Amino acid sequence: MKIPFIDLKRQYQQRKAEIDQAIHEVLDESNFLGGAKVKSFEDRFAEQCGTKHCVGVANGTDALYTTLKILGIGKGDEVITSACSWISTSGTISQTGAKPVFVDIGEDYLIDVKQIESNINSKTKAIIPVHLYGQMANMKAIAKVAEKYNLMIIEDSAQAHLAEREGLFVGEVSKAATFSFYPSKNLGAYGDAGAIVTNCEQLAEKCRQFANQGQLVRHQHKLEGINSRLDTIQAAILSVKLKYLSEWTAQRRKIAKQYNEALKGVSGLRLPIVNSNSNPVYHLYVVSAENREGLQNYLKSNEISTAIHYPTPLPFLDCYQDLNHKVEDFPVAHAESSKILSLPIFPEMTTKEVDYVCESVRHFYDSH
Ligand SMILES: Cc1ncc(COP(=O)(O)O)c(C=O)c1O
Repeated sequence: MKIPFIDLKRQYQQRKAEIDQAIHEVLDESNFLGGAKVKSFEDRFAEQCGTKHCVGVANGTDALYTTLKILGIGKGDEVITSACSWISTSGTISQTGAKPVFVDIGEDYLIDVKQIESNINSKTKAIIPVHLYGQMANMKAIAKVAEKYNLMIIEDSAQAHLAEREGLFVGEVSKAATFSFYPSKNLGAYGDAGAIVTNCEQLAEKCRQFANQGQLVRHQHKLEGINSRLDTIQAAILSVKLKYLSEWTAQRRKIAKQYNEALKGVSGLRLPIVNSNSNPVYHLYVVSAENREGLQNYLKSNEISTAIHYPTPLPFLDCYQDLNHKVEDFPVAHAESSKILSLPIFPEMTTKEVDYVCESVRHFYDSH
């Protein structure tokens, strides 16, 4: 049985009629940027997130960059973030002129809140927790630290559409939460797209202005911004897909449960750690595997695709060599980077397919 890591074609085939119609409506109207369809998606996404405002932008990276710029982060500032994320989280901090300050992760792969305080100094302006793999960081604890030191919080929620923890939803205790709608994300466009959600009207308006070349009214450039709009075709597709996000999220949780039950007790494998009162959305299902390379090769030889998110923790990437980070600074991130393996998970994956992956994983560890 051939198991892809993700199969976007299956999802498209299931919703083809609706999606094709949405695309054709935009083509017929030939209004490709802005307009009612973008506004409608923004309103509905904000509502789904439980926040007052949503600003659509061109991708999740620009969502972070725009928010940081509008919150006044820049040269001389420091922003604390997790050692484990996609490069956009730290890259956008640097792009503002500020310095990314990395904090190690816990065994749940989320920023270790206990280590945040010792990294705070007079230059620290903000914290960017990353809800990695779909599980929310400990926002209650992070909010306490932020309040104590008067720091802003921006949530990198690119992998965590609809996640919740301890009764909190993404975007509730922060200045803003940023999302990516990269095609493989839980809510994915058919190209690049992203959004900022916030409860602050002024912040939303300024982000909208910044992402549209500094103008809210055509040719009235109140500031220098960037060109980062959510295009209308993507908004129309996202509006269709948003209707199914809850259903797809439930399906991801069901698959994760099946993995949890079938892989329980396999020696050599640690399953994802879910914090109490946390309801992850399983953008990825990541195990910590002894002999990861052997397992990955074995699964590949059985036509099962896997991936590694991410092979190198951010502090050890070549682009941060000048920060002189040592392995001892990030022991968990370093140790886990040679063990983490993302198993296939997507809402359309069948029970049989999950079974086959589990049997293959078990077989590998039984015979090695
Ligand atoms: C954690 C995280 N942050 C930021 C981004 C950036 O989003 P985009 O690729 O839409 O720019 C991603 C996307 O992969 C991500 O996973």
